[in-house]
This record gives sequence, structure tokens and C-alpha cells, in this order.
Amino acid sequence: MSAPSMTLFHNPASPFVRKVMVLLHETGQTDRVALQASQLTPVNPDPALNKDNPLGKIPALRLADGNVIYDSRVILDYLDHQHVGNPLIPREGSARWRRLTLASLADGIMDAAVMIRYEVALRSPEKHWDAWLDSQRDKIRRALALLEADAIAELTSHFDVAAISVACALGYLDLRHPDLEWRKENPKLAQWYFEVSQRPSMIATMPKV
Ligand code: BEZ
Repeated sequence: MSAPSMTLFHNPASPFVRKVMVLLHETGQTDRVALQASQLTPVNPDPALNKDNPLGKIPALRLADGNVIYDSRVILDYLDHQHVGNPLIPREGSARWRRLTLASLADGIMDAAVMIRYEVALRSPEKHWDAWLDSQRDKIRRALALLEADAIAELTSHFDVAAISVACALGYLDLRHPDLEWRKENPKLAQWYFEVSQRPSMIATMPKV
């Protein structure tokens, strides 16, 4: 085993970081990446991260040549070009745009869920903006409803960028927002998630509370 040639700014709770980690596991590349812990919040930045990514966001990946790439979509695309197995992001055709659109939908769920987390965990209750929180929760509900109605067969067909992204979004809802009880309205998605949760890549990257 050679020394890792890349460094990933990492926090196990971040669903965006988890996507990268799951792809590394699925493509047999975990040994190539060292993890640099980043304990950041919007009001408590990580100076080392800010030097490499002025946006101060994780994940960011420092490559062997010192260049840094971000955000998670770019990192997934990069890493998917670094292995010899079947691509997890279709390279062309309508499948590419459909799978990337499903992945973007999952990213939107993560965005809304992380925003809710920050608002609720970091701001005092009297400052919570309830209408804004409701609107974030509505985005999540609408996105899940679309997946439940239209995408189960597609998610089941490949564990690729779309499925990885949806699985990490659902994992984050379980971690931070169990109160949303997303399984109640989405039983097919719940069954699909139960099955993919048993993949070694999902078990190895499961965040601990
Ligand atoms: C969290 O603890 O929920 C979290 C940490 C890093 C990035 C996003 C979310």
C-alpha cells in the first residue's frame, strides 16, 4: 500500500463529505486519500480550510500536485475519472443528465437539511425564522415525494452518483432530522434505503451522533 497522495477536508457528519467517502469505497480508492478533520460551522471557520477553499466549505480535496478542487460534485467527477471500474457518473447521453439531475435533487435535500440544522442548532430559539424553516422542510418533502413517485426503479438499477447522493441525503435526515419522519410518506424510498444501507460503503461511512 502506497502513501495517500490526496487530502480530503473531512467531517463525518457532512452528507456532502459522505458522498465522496462512499464513492471512494465503491471505487476502491480509500487508500489514496488522507483525511484532514475539519470542525467548522458557518460562524466558526477552519483557517486551514479557508486557505485552500476561500468559501470555507467541505469537502475540498487537495490533489497530489497541490491543486485543490471543490465542491462535492467536482470532487466526485474527478475521482470517478481516477479508477478503472464502471463509471459511477455516466460519461454521456441522456443517462448522464438524468443521473446528475437526481444527484442535484439529493444535494438540494442536503442543502435544506444542513440549513435547518444550522438555524436550529446554532441560533437561539427566539431568533428562529419559522416561515423560512417551514419552507426548507417543504423543499425536502417535495423532493422526497418526487423520488418516491418517479425514481425508485432508477435508484435500484445502479448504485451510482444518483443513488449515492440520495442515500447520503437520507442518512443525514436520519442523523439530524428524525423528527421529519420521512419514511411515513415514502415507504418505497424507505425500503430502498434499508437495502442500500447495508452496503459496506454505507456502513463504513455511517456518521455517529
Ligand atoms: C453537521 O454536523 O450536521 C454538519 C457538519 C458539517 C457539515 C454539515 C453538517
